[in-house]
Amino acid sequence: MRVVKIDIPPDKSVSHRAVILASISEGSTRIKNLLTGEDCLRTIEAFRAMGVRIDVAAATDVVIYGVGMRGLKRPKRPIYLGNSGTTMRILPGVLAGQDFSAILKGDKSLSKRPMLRIVGPLRRMGAEISGARLKVSASGGKGDVYPPLKIHGGRLKAIKYKSKIASAQIKSCILLAGLFARGVTSVSEPVKSRDHTERMLGLFGCKVNKVSVKGPVQLKSPRVVDIPGDISSAAFFIVAGCILPDTKIVIKNVGLNPTRSGVLDILKKMGARIEIQSPKSKIQNKEPIGNIIVQTSILRGIRISPGEVVRAIDEIPIIMVAACFAKGETVIEGVGELRVKETDRVKSMVTNLRKMGADVKVEGDSLKVKGGKELHGARVSSYGDHRTAMSMLVAGLLVKDNLRVTGLSCIKKSFPGFEKMFSKLQLSFPRKRGSKK
Ligand code: S3P
Repeated sequence: MRVVKIDIPPDKSVSHRAVILASISEGSTRIKNLLTGEDCLRTIEAFRAMGVRIDVAAATDVVIYGVGMRGLKRPKRPIYLGNSGTTMRILPGVLAGQDFSAILKGDKSLSKRPMLRIVGPLRRMGAEISGARLKVSASGGKGDVYPPLKIHGGRLKAIKYKSKIASAQIKSCILLAGLFARGVTSVSEPVKSRDHTERMLGLFGCKVNKVSVKGPVQLKSPRVVDIPGDISSAAFFIVAGCILPDTKIVIKNVGLNPTRSGVLDILKKMGARIEIQSPKSKIQNKEPIGNIIVQTSILRGIRISPGEVVRAIDEIPIIMVAACFAKGETVIEGVGELRVKETDRVKSMVTNLRKMGADVKVEGDSLKVKGGKELHGARVSSYGDHRTAMSMLVAGLLVKDNLRVTGLSCIKKSFPGFEKMFSKLQLSFPRKRGSKK
């Protein structure tokens, strides 16, 4: 059996939060193992544009000289966030508490992502926010608002917010705004979404009681923050390890936060041979970490509930690929939120997998994948979405004829160095044929 060691990039969600909290805390913070993918660089640039000094100490190490809760400066021009939905949805929570106006813009895809989910509660807290309306609402529905967002911050009031959507971006945005408001701001949601913000606020000295904060709060730098590996990036190689013959894949220092590790539980239920080894210090900066070892497995179809989907929201595309290699049918329920990601991931994955010969159906907000059909080569697209791109490359691992995936440059959003790791599987990365963008 061949053993392949894979290095995965630092966690994207945790990286964004580390940059945000370090920027508005008192004191300097060294962030070790920060993701330098495009999205996190946008968050860094946003704070630089508001007067925060951020020095690059090494390839994935930065030092942020925090300016405190009231120290940000009005940006001279609109802040461009590229494709970064997390920055667009979380940063307004900080801007809502400032005494200046700022405009946040995004690229074409981000400009179609619905923002009312954060704009609504921030308005209730007292911020003035305007956004664009789309003639044809690609997502989100009637009356939604879209970037560019103009945020005029000010004095905020605390709210108790009951979110209809389980979303860490909504929750984080409101909690950050709550740091500036007098009183207790709390958020409840139908299913618990990832809780990195709550954990990291604790690291910066803010007491978080369940999902509530009592403002106003002064954050204090913990001096050093070390970011764990991204389980969402690891997921591509975990599924590769399951489907490739005679293979063992070892991935070290992966973040194992229980609100993120749904993909492991789902794949284990499907029969995946996954072993978790915890290194000496199992908790790093309040986030559990461990090593993942996965081996060639015989997968079977299962039913995945909406609650399980929340814990694996970014891994559904690669779970769909796993389902194609499983015996029997996999039903994934409650995938509506996938339609408002970097692209409509229901559409991108269903179209692509069907082109490869997979038996995939959409019924309302459920997906049905009948596994066991041999996939064949085809020309498929990333639709500009990093997770669709990497999922399709994994889907092509066992395909004998040519699979062409166009638009691979989006991968650097979350996984710089993917090509090198993918080539460790000793299969060619279809750069020349595939990358159009
Ligand atoms: C994220 C939350 C999730 C996830 C996204 C990152 C975050 O989005 O899909 O990639 O860092 O908070 P939702 O909060 O919209 O579910």
